[in-house]
Amino acid sequence: MKTRILFVCLGNICRSPAAEGILRAKAGLSGLSERIEVDSAGTYGGHRGELPDPRMRSAASRRGYALTHRARQVREEDFERFDRIIAMDDMNYETLHRLAPSREASRRIFRMTEFCRRHPDRTYVPDPYYEGHEGFELVLDMLEDGCEGILASLTPDE
Ligand code: 4NP
Repeated sequence: MKTRILFVCLGNICRSPAAEGILRAKAGLSGLSERIEVDSAGTYGGHRGELPDPRMRSAASRRGYALTHRARQVREEDFERFDRIIAMDDMNYETLHRLAPSREASRRIFRMTEFCRRHPDRTYVPDPYYEGHEGFELVLDMLEDGCEGILASLTPDE
């Protein structure tokens, strides 16, 4: 059975499309591509249709990840379709809780940092949009960490 994972940030042009690309690439390297479906979305819809931010695309490409997602806003059907809806920061987490159509749906909302094993002091993935180069590298370090944790958390397939 596939585990369906949706990453969510604010604009869907920096953190969540990078998480999507990283998880897909790491799943491929671990032979787990068939175990997951992955997508990303933003709580804000103003960047709808855009490719990821060029700064994020170039930082990700230096680590071997090609990011081709087109930005979209979170929609109500996402709460039916996805098994895990993973928020990058507190604001996204709270917005998702407000949008969740049921208590059962809100139990499928997580924070990305819950899956990070090498960043124990971090409670959110910082927004790199107004940051310099180091901001993007920190985000990628955290997303690689969290994506490894997500893959490790998948139950073995029968
Ligand atoms: P993201 O970064 O949430 O990681 O995609 C941002 C992208 C755009 C804006 C803020 C954060 N914005 O204000 O437009």
